[in-house]
Amino acid sequence: MSILRLVDLTKTFGSLLATDCVNLSIDAGERHVIIGPNGAGKTSLLNQISGQLRPTSGRILFKDVEIAGLAPERICKLGVGRTFQRNNLFNRLSVLDNVRLAVLARRGNPMNAFVPMARLAALESRSVEILELVGLGDRRAALVRTLSYGEQRQVEIAIALATEPDLLLLDEPTAGMSPAETGQMVSFVAALPRTLTILMIEHDMQVVFSLADRISVLHYGRLLATGAPAEISRNESVQEIYLGTAH
Ligand SMILES: Nc1ncnc2c1ncn2[C@@H]1O[C@H](COP(=O)(O)OP(=O)(O)OP(=O)(O)O)[C@@H](O)[C@H]1O
Ligand SMILES: [Mg+2]
Repeated sequence: MSILRLVDLTKTFGSLLATDCVNLSIDAGERHVIIGPNGAGKTSLLNQISGQLRPTSGRILFKDVEIAGLAPERICKLGVGRTFQRNNLFNRLSVLDNVRLAVLARRGNPMNAFVPMARLAALESRSVEILELVGLGDRRAALVRTLSYGEQRQVEIAIALATEPDLLLLDEPTAGMSPAETGQMVSFVAALPRTLTILMIEHDMQVVFSLADRISVLHYGRLLATGAPAEISRNESVQEIYLGTAH
């Protein structure tokens, strides 16, 4: 069963085709990785799904509901969570407070100082639950700025999970990481529950091949190929444009 369907999705920036008539269907529970050279249109594709960018034409169906062009908050409330390339954390707050703020933002008005005590308790237990789910339970009291870079990126994923998504979009979760941190991130993502569908962009081929159920290759905005890792690695046009040197 597909959870996300892109139909003839197109995004232009002036004369540039950032997304060129992309058709793609993602199954519920799938881990789908998008690869492609720099400037291929990977982030633009993700930005259209999460509402940061309005498509020029085409459709985006999330659980059979048209979401193309909706505001990011609406799309988030419908169940699409995402992380950003840049660090979005409150560095002087604890890990727990960062997640708590995200849960509040999802559930109600974060600016209301008169949140009833019972709700605060529920908020705290939900935040702790999320941190435990992502293996950061014992780091909850630490200030974000004292965490390693790898851990900070894990907190960003915890925050995306705090919005209780069914589909999680990750834009290069291992970018800038050391090999050890990359290894931890791979185990971390691999351990996320299968009830969650993951669509991620990744450059590191080892990461791609250890996490992907299926891979899509973008090239100049066009979907060059979609398939199981073995299919993609023996696809000749993919080898030519992309994997030739990297894999
Ligand atoms: N807001 C924008 N205005 C104009 N052009 C843009 C905008 N955003 C992206 N582009 C262009 O669209 C193309 C696709 O960019 P995008 O960031 O989606 O690529 P990418 O595959 O994510 O690249 P990278 O691997 O470097 O992150 C690039 O040529 C880029 O310069
Ligand atoms: Mg990008």
